[in-house]
Amino acid sequence: MGDATSFTGAPGTELAHHLSCETQARLPNPMKSIWKLSLGRPECINMGNGDPHHTLYPVSEISFKVPAVTNNDPVQAWRNGTGETQVLHAYKDEPSVISLRSALRYGAGAGLLEVRQALEKVNRLLHSTTSNTHTITLSLGNADAVTKCYRLLGNPGDSFLVEEFSFPGMTNAPLAQNIKWVPVKLDEKGIIPEEMERILTDWNEAAQGRRPHVLYTIPCGQNPTGSTLSLDRRQRIYELARKWDIIIIEDDPYFFLQYDIGALDTEAVQRDGFAASFARKLAPSFLSMDVDGRVLRIDSLSKILAPGMRLGWITCNPFFAEKLEMLTDSSTQHPHGLGQVFVAEMLAETGWGMDGFIRWVKSLCDEYQRRRDFFIDTFRREIGDCGFASAEVPEAGMFIWVRVHLECHTRYQSGDDDNTIVLMQELFQNLFEAGLVLMPATTFAIVGSGAKSTPHIHTRCHFFRATFCGTEETMEAGIGIFGKTIKKFFAS
Ligand SMILES: Cc1ncc(COP(=O)(O)O)c(C=O)c1O
Repeated sequence: MGDATSFTGAPGTELAHHLSCETQARLPNPMKSIWKLSLGRPECINMGNGDPHHTLYPVSEISFKVPAVTNNDPVQAWRNGTGETQVLHAYKDEPSVISLRSALRYGAGAGLLEVRQALEKVNRLLHSTTSNTHTITLSLGNADAVTKCYRLLGNPGDSFLVEEFSFPGMTNAPLAQNIKWVPVKLDEKGIIPEEMERILTDWNEAAQGRRPHVLYTIPCGQNPTGSTLSLDRRQRIYELARKWDIIIIEDDPYFFLQYDIGALDTEAVQRDGFAASFARKLAPSFLSMDVDGRVLRIDSLSKILAPGMRLGWITCNPFFAEKLEMLTDSSTQHPHGLGQVFVAEMLAETGWGMDGFIRWVKSLCDEYQRRRDFFIDTFRREIGDCGFASAEVPEAGMFIWVRVHLECHTRYQSGDDDNTIVLMQELFQNLFEAGLVLMPATTFAIVGSGAKSTPHIHTRCHFFRATFCGTEETMEAGIGIFGKTIKKFFAS
């Protein structure tokens, strides 16, 4: 793990022209710089910091009761209350993976070294990265990380590329920085590389301003469409990023939830371990292809542990990592110590260890895959052959993009009088009155600033986003309402 103070001239400096004016103007927090210096001289008496004394922390130990992950389907056993449990302990004054003494004091913006080292092992396994070229900075989840990346790179007036339907929590944020979105068409396999290339080739800097230098993408189980980028598309998009000098913000909270990967090969598990055998089955990330340091990969624990943990990590070149840490040191500071302790204890060999962590993840994939299949089966049963709606089966994530076949509706108009939005609003209202809320596509539609890049997105808003995270009872009831309501709607 690199030290943020020694990054000058580190990999990534050649990408300095991507940094925003805000980033270039930001000074390191001078107190953090001295604090880092003092870490190298532990014999020094440090009377310079405003840390409360550790003897005054009103906590001496904590324990977390978690499922034991010794069998192959720990999620089922945990849900049924039949599984074994395990307790992770951390102490202030006795040996533990991280002592509460260091976890609860002020620390480096990038997070505790022990946690970053543990996550580095996760990265090495899943993305084959090394700390020489890619550094880890902890975040308060992906929302914090993504918005910090926007500030790292974006100047007012800049244009960023994005999937034409995307997660508004993340796409709203940079609008206040006067960053403009340039939507790229996508289909069930994610961004269409030819569309991205067309936008970049046709870009007229005199008329449209600086050519987009950032792509924000959700490559697995895209929110909201559920699409997952194929390997071939990922390779072509990375090549386009190289050709047009684009930085990729890879927001990947659903990476760990990939489906239809099948059982792991027993021989491979015995030979290489569970974690390595699972890793081979996953879609390769942009980070794993990143020879230039142009990927800022963002991972979250929200979907595989709990969203209230507010913990994630950014992996990027050391130069960008230094700038991100400077932003963190002068804003949110590092994530809370208790969450970091949990992660360190969980990933340590005395806790779940890497194999156990991946066993949990794989079992979670099996559970969500069952729920996805239940959703699709129930949907097909309720909708039948009426032809009014259909649903793609997602390979990852939590969402199903339900297509409403408005073209079958007697009141549907296309062309200049297209009434997709009006009909979808009516259907949303009907569903709501019948007791079901689905997210309309308009919530996610990116309305770009250049006519060339936004060919009539309102005509493609005949979708709803639905989640299959809930229980079978909820899905059965919700899809039942959907089936009845849509049939009435098409008869009206
Ligand atoms: C695409 C995407 N990015 C970011 C987030 C926020 O994740 P976190 O809880 O890690 O902040 C979400 C959450 O739903 C998401 O779907």
